[in-house]
Amino acid sequence: MNFIRAYKLLSLANKMIKGDYRKVSGLMGEMHGFPQKLGQHLTLYRGDPFDRYFKDLCTASRTEDVNITEVLGELQIEAGKFEISAQASIGQVYRVEAGAGVLAVKVKYPGVEERIRSDFRTLKTVLWPVRVLPLKNSSLFPLLEQMKLLVLAECDYRREAEVQKAFQELFGDDPDITVPEIITYNERAIASKWVDGTGLVGCTGWLDGWFIETYLKFILTSLRELGMIHADPHPGNFILTGANGRKLAVLDYGSAVMFNTREAGAAVRLLAGEYGDEAELLDDLRILGIDEESLHIYRPIIGDLVSILLEPFYSPGPYDFSDWRMQYRINTLMSSRAWEKPLLMSPKLLLLVRTIQGLYFYARENSVIFDWHKAVSNYLG
Ligand SMILES: Nc1ncnc2c1ncn2[C@@H]1O[C@H](COP(=O)(O)OP(=O)(O)O)[C@@H](O)[C@H]1O
Ligand SMILES: [Mg+2]
Repeated sequence: MNFIRAYKLLSLANKMIKGDYRKVSGLMGEMHGFPQKLGQHLTLYRGDPFDRYFKDLCTASRTEDVNITEVLGELQIEAGKFEISAQASIGQVYRVEAGAGVLAVKVKYPGVEERIRSDFRTLKTVLWPVRVLPLKNSSLFPLLEQMKLLVLAECDYRREAEVQKAFQELFGDDPDITVPEIITYNERAIASKWVDGTGLVGCTGWLDGWFIETYLKFILTSLRELGMIHADPHPGNFILTGANGRKLAVLDYGSAVMFNTREAGAAVRLLAGEYGDEAELLDDLRILGIDEESLHIYRPIIGDLVSILLEPFYSPGPYDFSDWRMQYRINTLMSSRAWEKPLLMSPKLLLLVRTIQGLYFYARENSVIFDWHKAVSNYLG
């Protein structure tokens, strides 16, 4: 175990409990990897202190020593000028002026996979007493294991570049959406075309219905055509580009979900919500990876949980988030009785829910009233 890193992680947890978010965000940015990812995710929760302390983590943190000349050599890129442009959780991004034009070259931090493994070992070690206490936490360790695998999957740059290529081909002619073209890649770096424009970090109050429609079209079209969705909705992954900023560039395919044909069908039906009876909904949740035991335990409330979460999709007509109280309603349902075990979702379902939360976040932050139901039939119909 990396003891210095383990110590930092524990002090991060301690500061989190004390509510010292300034220090928490500082440590997340210094550590990169899983802690920074968590910070980026927190930006999708509304309001202070999340806006204030975590939004910078979407594109900026501590600079690391990366041998960029060697990386460019491996990729056979003849670079003129280059400079560091962003530090993300897994890698550092350079703006590189090359023969092929201006490129974004994302280079993995050295040893980042080992840091991720070390962090999860630390978490499991400090949480081990939970295993022997008679608590209802049997899902904690499987959940940690799932999270570790998801974060490690984001370190597979070859997979990421291949996925990005598939998206780029799909949206190549789209008037509203662009995916940066992949120029070349290897296991530690990805070079794509540079996108100029405005990022979405701090995007409160100036996005409109066009953005929500376009982002939703992006998600639904790729689900229908590729059986994949981009599942990392934080503001660092979007740039408004093109004339008048009316083209949405979507970056970062590290946590894209690949559904098989059956799963994609279930995800489409779930968003469209046209179920004849509850058994059909349960079948789709089963296909999407909720285990039989959870379905059995949560059966009395599962239909309601899904309708609350997907209410904007299921309500006909423009949906106004100002009278939406999802968290409150879900909490009320969950506290209606004591459950034998937490509701364990599969990684794919977790990422689908994260994407939906991301879409809602932008609509709510910008008070966009939008017809989600109609968009679903337009783009999935
Ligand atoms: N093609 C690009 N053009 C312009 N900026 C980019 C491009 N690719 C990445 N960036 C910048 O680098 C940041 C991190 O890149 P990203 O692919 O999201 O990395 P990570 O997978 O580590 O989150 C982005 O938030 C963006 O600011
Ligand atoms: Mg990113």
